Amino acid sequence: MEVIICQDPAEVGLVSAAKVAKIAAAIGPSVVLGVATGSSPLATYENLRALVQAGKLDLSQASAFALDEYVGLPIEHPESYHATIDRTVTVPLGLDSQRVHVPDGDPAGLETAGERYEAAIKAAGGVDVQILGVGANGHIGFNEPTSSLSSRTRMKTLAPQTRVDNARFFGNSIDAVPRHCITQGLGTILAARHALLVATGANKIAAVRALVEGPVTSLCPASVLQLHRRATIVVDEEAASGLSLSDYYRTVFDNLPDWQRLDI
Ligand code: F6R
Repeated sequence: MEVIICQDPAEVGLVSAAKVAKIAAAIGPSVVLGVATGSSPLATYENLRALVQAGKLDLSQASAFALDEYVGLPIEHPESYHATIDRTVTVPLGLDSQRVHVPDGDPAGLETAGERYEAAIKAAGGVDVQILGVGANGHIGFNEPTSSLSSRTRMKTLAPQTRVDNARFFGNSIDAVPRHCITQGLGTILAARHALLVATGANKIAAVRALVEGPVTSLCPASVLQLHRRATIVVDEEAASGLSLSDYYRTVFDNLPDWQRLDI
């Protein structure tokens, strides 16, 4: 696991976008992105947009797969992940909306929605780089604590804390936050060829410590990334403040061989 400690959230956005751009450049125009919603990756998307606008990155032929979606929220709802991904990823990064996929949260087809989503990822050749945020309770996607470490896309019930955390998107009304979601599983996330998790701020100190330096356990679903061959964690000073091996992570980053360096 590579841990990159940045000065502040702005640098987290810069460094994580540079990492995605480097991977995309190596793969070519048909790169398959895995994309998260939430606040954490917004600065990453903003920096990717700047690279696209500067002509340094072309994502017009890329595909994207979102991690999750609420169950029962119409896709036209501004806080549905269909709408959120369209607003924060598809439009600004110049993706072709026909190639952007979000799990189907329609209650009518829930029994098969997971299998259909897995089949779509497979048909696209798998995800090249999966962008992730982490919940304060260690969730990635909406894989709440005790999720199976080998799970695939399926329906889950949101943890009470996640509904509290996400109430800010629903007029601060916890009751307005859907109770169920459909999310890529931890096994699905592990199958991506690269995993890139971003986290900033004091609210993420415990989750970052547990996922990087704690045991691999379903009580901290993000700790499954310790089993990933190419996982990068990009955090700001604050989120990193609970880590015990920070000096080592900085030494590693400062001494990367040229071919591993980022264009920043
Ligand atoms: C959303 C998702 C979630 C968020 C997590 C952190 O697609 O995958 O796991 O990444 O809840 O959310 P923020 O970034 O808003 O703190």
